[in-house]
Amino acid sequence: MSDNTETFVRATELAREGKSDEAAALYRGILAEQPKHLAAAKALADLVESGAARGEAAAARKAAVDIETESTYSVAKTAQKHGRFDVAIRCYKKILDFDPEHGDAVWGLAEACYANDQVAEALRWYQSYSEIYPDDPESKHMVAALGDGPKPSRASDDYVRETFDNFAGDFDRQLLEDLEYRVPKLIHALFGEIPGATTEKLDILDAGCGTGLSGIDFKPHAATLTGVDLSPEMLKRAKERKIYDELLELELADFMRGRPAAFELIVAADVFCYIGDLSETFDAAFIALKPGGHLLFSVEAQSKRGFSLTGSGRYAHKPAYVGKAAKAAGFCEILARNGTLRMEYGEPVEGYLTALQKPV
Ligand SMILES: C[S@@+](CC[C@H](N)C(=O)[O-])C[C@H]1O[C@@H](n2cnc3c(N)ncnc32)[C@H](O)[C@@H]1O
Repeated sequence: MSDNTETFVRATELAREGKSDEAAALYRGILAEQPKHLAAAKALADLVESGAARGEAAAARKAAVDIETESTYSVAKTAQKHGRFDVAIRCYKKILDFDPEHGDAVWGLAEACYANDQVAEALRWYQSYSEIYPDDPESKHMVAALGDGPKPSRASDDYVRETFDNFAGDFDRQLLEDLEYRVPKLIHALFGEIPGATTEKLDILDAGCGTGLSGIDFKPHAATLTGVDLSPEMLKRAKERKIYDELLELELADFMRGRPAAFELIVAADVFCYIGDLSETFDAAFIALKPGGHLLFSVEAQSKRGFSLTGSGRYAHKPAYVGKAAKAAGFCEILARNGTLRMEYGEPVEGYLTALQKPV
């Protein structure tokens, strides 16, 4: 395929000479070969709109705007990925000049503003997204996270499902390559510190199993490996790994309450950041564990008391709160470690890894 440069130059000359229909025919030829050729689409739209060349003006202009929007969006995403949030913000705003209700650009603006420390602006864009899509659970959650209003005590099932269904296709690559995700390895190392833990095969629950990244490390220790998660798209990827005996699409506390004394080990890697108040989850895990069984999990760290829903949309917990809630559910805390869980916008996210035991 040629790059059509000569044809484009020729078409521009013809247009200048007033031979508009001939010029338009050349622009259409270029677009037939290169449908994303922005300059040709714009030039054609100008000719048709001015009445100089035959054609439907609105359709020609829309075609040009669509190409420009798509390429601007792609520049914005690339800039955002490389930390050039200022460039991303400019590109998203340009898209909104063409299409004020372009949902992906509004969402992109919210994320890029947050990453660029423009929290009030980010909130405003999440609110705009919520106005365009009033039933959207993700923007509702982010408005709660960044705004002054009441905060939910855990992320709603709809939020979790929608977020991870959208994320599933790129989850492993983003977590492992871009975010240097370390939680499965840290939890597995913590497991290795429990005296005698690795001597027998265990009935293991991977709670909030996602695509199965933590299941991989625990499979060799499993007599049975069960995964539970709210997101069908994440579960689809977990199934492809062929390491789970059972995979269930359920809220994890609901599931655990229905399986009394079924597991010797429950692992929740990077899951409690979607649950603020851990009491219900700990109670359910206590029910699902056999006496002497262990619950291993990570939380993101905070120095404030209790737990908070942070501007990232995830919850952070103070270790004292975790210890108190675990004790109230009947657990003994046997191990606690600090660790870097992953990166976020180039900064390490610090957290705690904890092992609880249900008394024998
Ligand atoms: C960050 S991912 C971690 C996945 C996996 N544990 C890993 O380490 O790769 C969090 C997962 O927890 C799931 N999740 C969050 N809250 C949940 C809940 N209340 N019940 C079931 N699954 C939940 C999400 O759908 C998502 O797949």
